Amino acid sequence: MATITFKLNGKRQTLNADPQMPLLWALRDTLNLKGTKYGCGVGQCGACTVHFNGTATRSCQLPLSAIANQEITTIEGLSANGDHPVQKAWLDHDVAQCGYCQAGQIMSAVSLLKTNPKPTDEDIDNAMSGNICRCGTYLRIKEAIHSAAK
Ligand code: FES
Ligand code: FES
Repeated sequence: MATITFKLNGKRQTLNADPQMPLLWALRDTLNLKGTKYGCGVGQCGACTVHFNGTATRSCQLPLSAIANQEITTIEGLSANGDHPVQKAWLDHDVAQCGYCQAGQIMSAVSLLKTNPKPTDEDIDNAMSGNICRCGTYLRIKEAIHSAAK
């Protein structure tokens, strides 16, 4: 066990936990932040995507030891009222179907737009290729990202 302090959604957070525990487990089971989803657990689906110092990162592959004194943002911390421009674009385009993958999709899209405010279709395909959607909402995701970029 170790004491790990980090910034979570803008606030200081301390955990007493196994430093090898993946952040995803701590978020969902210890901190009760269920917006970040468990999909595959092996870095292949993107359902668990959060921001690690502002960059989209798979929280199932991120041990707590790596986040000490670093900054984590989850879907819950993206905006106070769910009105981040990307979340609004998602609603405008009715992107979600079952919804399971969508928190991860949104976190990846926000990360993309931070570094590339006017992405092409190809940029979007490249940035979002690690986020799998079993419901096949890819076309609407692309439209929503273009819309948010405006
Ligand atoms: S649960 Fe982390 S990538 Fe699938
Ligand atoms: S909306 Fe169902 S998995 Fe993406």
